[in-house]
Amino acid sequence: MIFYFSGTGNSRWIAEQLAEAQHETLLFIPECMRNESYQFTLQAQEKIGFVFPIYSWGPPAIVLDFIRRLQFLNYQHHYLFFVCSCGDDVGLTEDVFVKLIRSKGWGCDAGFSVAMPNNYVLLPGFDVDPKVLEEKKRHDAMDVLEKINESIERREKLFRCHKGTFPWLKTRLINPLFNRRPIDTRRFLATDACIGCARCVKSCPVQNISLVHGKPVWGENCTSCLACYHVCPQQAVQYGSRTKGKGRYFFPLS
Ligand SMILES: Cc1cc2nc3c(=O)[nH]c(=O)nc-3n(C[C@H](O)[C@H](O)[C@H](O)COP(=O)(O)O)c2cc1C
Repeated sequence: MIFYFSGTGNSRWIAEQLAEAQHETLLFIPECMRNESYQFTLQAQEKIGFVFPIYSWGPPAIVLDFIRRLQFLNYQHHYLFFVCSCGDDVGLTEDVFVKLIRSKGWGCDAGFSVAMPNNYVLLPGFDVDPKVLEEKKRHDAMDVLEKINESIERREKLFRCHKGTFPWLKTRLINPLFNRRPIDTRRFLATDACIGCARCVKSCPVQNISLVHGKPVWGENCTSCLACYHVCPQQAVQYGSRTKGKGRYFFPLS
């Protein structure tokens, strides 16, 4: 059983690769939450996986919230792992995740990070990767994922996460500030270039966007995933002036 969250497709791709190789069922966390599905029965040899992007050097709030509510029937020290996708580094995500899993009475056996194209663009100095780097990251990720799959197959107890520099500062100081001040959805807007195609509506994992008179309108229940911004074929979605001139990225759909 692999639970995943993804905004712009990187983590979805990873989750799909893992589910296929490990012959595990794939479950999209926002869909489970919409259906109020929090209780799952485990098979004897089943592995439990969590795949998610890194948001401000920690797991996204929606993932933590989901795990807090999650319950397993038949849990008997099943092999449990996480794989997170990041643009650069993950800080002390491993500690945050393992602590939460332990607080549930479960054990976390393994954790991995995979560098993928960056999708964070909301602060000055942050932008998507140049195309060459984007392609290199996706190419390198295939090898990394193959090794991760081998480790999971062997049920290895192993943590291979790229913490980066100043991990304590990033996860213990910056991450709580990030989570305390959720994204202000009133700043999202669609410029005159919007053609009302509703791609932003469909890409929102938590159905927070609706089309009103042919234009997107954002509700308050936002995960900060930026799928709506990146998916727009007209580059019409903006976040105030912060995204002006910034690039767009979405995992290529096959
Ligand atoms: C709100 C937000 C915060 C992010 N914070 C980090 C971070 O702290 N470190 C990092 O390396 N990447 C960060 N990123 C980049 C994403 O983790 C990365 O691009 C990820 O692969 C996106 O996954 P997805 O396509 O499944 O949504 C952030 C992205 C967003 C949207």
